[in-house]
Amino acid sequence: MNQFFDLPNDIINMNSGTQSSYPTQVRDFIFEHKEKYRVSPTRGHFEFVPSIWKAQKSMADFFNLDPNDFFFCHNVTEALNHFILGLESNSLKRIITTDLEYGATLNICRFRSEKDGVPLNTIKLENLIDENLIVDYEKFKDELRTNLKSGDLLVLSHIMTSNGDILPIAEISKICHEKGALIAVDGAHAPGAFKNDFSKFKDLDFYGGNLHKWMMGPPGTGFGWINKKSASKVSSQLAGWPTYDNAFHLEEFKGQGTAKEFYLKGTFDFSNFMSLNSLMDFWNTVGEEKIYTARRELRSQLNDLMSTELGWKLISNDWKTCPLISYETPKKISEMGWDYMVNLWHEHNLIVSTPKFFGKHILRLSPNIYNNSEQIVKTVEKLKLTNN
Ligand SMILES: Cc1ncc(COP(=O)(O)O)c(C=O)c1O
Repeated sequence: MNQFFDLPNDIINMNSGTQSSYPTQVRDFIFEHKEKYRVSPTRGHFEFVPSIWKAQKSMADFFNLDPNDFFFCHNVTEALNHFILGLESNSLKRIITTDLEYGATLNICRFRSEKDGVPLNTIKLENLIDENLIVDYEKFKDELRTNLKSGDLLVLSHIMTSNGDILPIAEISKICHEKGALIAVDGAHAPGAFKNDFSKFKDLDFYGGNLHKWMMGPPGTGFGWINKKSASKVSSQLAGWPTYDNAFHLEEFKGQGTAKEFYLKGTFDFSNFMSLNSLMDFWNTVGEEKIYTARRELRSQLNDLMSTELGWKLISNDWKTCPLISYETPKKISEMGWDYMVNLWHEHNLIVSTPKFFGKHILRLSPNIYNNSEQIVKTVEKLKLTNN
């Protein structure tokens, strides 16, 4: 499907998990609009409003949620800041998280914890792994059933950044609900990675997602969703025109409730968010299933070759359904840490990620629909060269 992206073949991007490339039709829209607003910035300042609301409605349709419970923001970090810092003190006695969460997300938890003296507890998933380094999430759920209390906020990934584990967030949210705890999901990787139907998340409280990963939107696009039942527990710490009803340009196009309260404040890169209309056109033209199938086929080929050519231990339980696929690397490579990733850029034009998994660097590969079979073969060949 590279025809939708027009990317060079010599740089092999096997790290769409950090950020994806976006379709040329999205790029063209952004260029065109940036130019239009460079010529007439004032028009740009007012014309974005209906266009962004239209994108918000089609994105809400895609995820099967009410556009009034949804807001655009720049990234999942921003959405989680809204939830974790904006949660009212009365509803927050403890923050609970795990040792597989993303570092920046943990920093938000720590920040709220230190700011307001809220205890921060980490559930150690490292204690729940088997000999194949696979986490037992049944045991994790048991631990939640035993330990969660009313007034807890559980901050948990939908997809774990290092090994691509997919968490059963609907079931976990049910446990939270039964225990009187709240849950904020870090959905950095899940939107666009597989079908997400938010009507199934009835016990979930807060969800932040990225649009610049598996939705293949432009950089600096993300969203937040707040379940109606939990909306009164969190409030925006930022105010601006959308806060009250005295901005004529926003009148009919900012929604109500969550959509209005958390609407992006001030001047921002309107074109990026307007281009989400074009992104949704792209998804509708190509088809959701076709995108998931194409990615699955690339992963399957990749995993077969990794197994026969390198034999590095696969540590991704969910690789067939999750776009992230990770391997334990030999000790000398693991000890190189991020340098291994940088060397592959410089010496082999190969982009991968080497995140930490329980303290040790691993190799994470995440092909996307603009990659092809030939690139998969080359990726493994290049990795093989570093294995001597
Ligand atoms: C699980 C997880 N959470 C949060 C983030 C942060 O994403 P962003 O920098 O787009 O806010 C990432 C980024 O890779 C991630 O993997």
